Parts: sequence; structure tokens; C-alpha cells
Amino acid sequence: MSSASVSPKILIPFYSRTGTLQRLAEAVAEGARAAGAEVRLRRARELVGVDILSSVPGWKESADAMNAQYEAPTADDAVWADGIIFGTPTRFGAVSSELKAYIDGLGGLWAKGALNGKAGSVFAGSATMHGGNEVTSLSLYPVLAHLGLIIVPPGFADAVMFANAGTPYGASVVSGNPPAGPTDAELAVARFQGRRVTEVAKKLIA
Ligand SMILES: Cc1cc2nc3c(=O)[nH]c(=O)nc-3n(C[C@H](O)[C@H](O)[C@H](O)COP(=O)(O)O)c2cc1C
Repeated sequence: MSSASVSPKILIPFYSRTGTLQRLAEAVAEGARAAGAEVRLRRARELVGVDILSSVPGWKESADAMNAQYEAPTADDAVWADGIIFGTPTRFGAVSSELKAYIDGLGGLWAKGALNGKAGSVFAGSATMHGGNEVTSLSLYPVLAHLGLIIVPPGFADAVMFANAGTPYGASVVSGNPPAGPTDAELAVARFQGRRVTEVAKKLIA
């Protein structure tokens, strides 16, 4: 079978509290679908209590709206996928505990080597330009390696990577505070990343 005719399955598990990473995840999905992928977008669920969610206007409403739109990611989703693209906001320069909890639930699959050889990629968001986007994406690279995923970075493999948006380690959004965006350039990087992971996944399963 030629790789062009293969339709890879791409899982996009993300966490987003106020919708910024949600919009980046949707753009990753758009790029993956345009390249022929079947996509599952899944939102990791809250770990903080209602008291924390209610402490900032809009957090709980935003989380409730996204939970109504997206299922929570499951281990079965990871088994189903040919490629997994994880997305997270920066939390004090690190991955969100909500996305990490999903990842930590994949231990049973790790033990069986069930994820070995699938494509893996990451994207992130921070409030400020130097607030931790790159280190957050890179902090997930060891996780991808431990899971046996073949790491697929955007690199500088497309013209959109030269438009002062995204990182070679993963698409990113600099959201400001209160969070807004992503910009068109940031969305373009996210679409490219979805396309690139899909194209690599096609080759891996061909
Ligand atoms: C607990 C917490 C910690 C955060 N830590 C950082 C940080 O270290 N650097 C940064 O630039 N932004 C930080 N942020 C901001 C978010 O990463 C940023 O606003 C992100 O774009 C929000 O994405 P969302 O709208 O998808 O939830 C933090 C936000 C929260 C709630």
C-alpha cells in the first residue's frame, strides 16, 4: 500500500483551562485532517477542586463548556492512535498536572510496549514570550521516549516556522494575561504540526 493512501489515526489529548490551548489543539486537528487523518480530540479533566476553579471568573464556565464538547482521553484512545500529539499550558514552566495525570495513566500500556513505534509530538502555551513554552514542550520529550513514541518535532521543516511563531519543538501560543489568541501565525504552525505528524504516521504504518 502506498503511504499516500493510508489514513492514520491521530489522538490529540490536551488540557486547557480558558480555551487557548483548545484553539491550538483544534488547529493541530485541522492540519491532521487536511493530511488525511482521522482525529480524536480529547480534553484532560480537572484535578483542582471547584473552589480553585471558581476563584477566577470564567475558569469554571470555560472548563464546563469544554467538558461538554470533548470526551476525556482514555488508554483505549492511545491504543487506537497511530500518532499522539499532546498539548498543555505551561504551569510554572512545566506540563499541567491534568495532562500529566492522563499520561501517568498509560503505565499499563507502557508495561506491554503497546505504544512503541507510534508517532509522538507536543505543543504548549504560556502567558509570556519567555514564560516557559519551550521548556514545557521539551520536558515532555523524555516522556515520549519512555513511552516508545517516535518523536516528531515541527523543526524548521516548513515556511510557517520562520514567521516568529511556534517553536521547533512544538507549536506554541503566547497568550498574554488574560489569555487570548492564538495568532494566525501560531495557528499556522499548529496546522503544520498536525500535518507533519500525520505524514510521518502514514510512513510508520505503511
Ligand atoms: C497555575 C498557573 C501557572 C502558570 N504558569 C505560567 C508560567 O510559568 N509561565 C507563563 O508564561 N504562563 C503561565 N501560566 C499561564 C498559562 O500557561 C497561559 O495563560 C496559557 O495560555 C493558558 O492556556 P488555556 O487558556 O488553554 O488554559 C500559568 C497559569 C496558571 C493558571
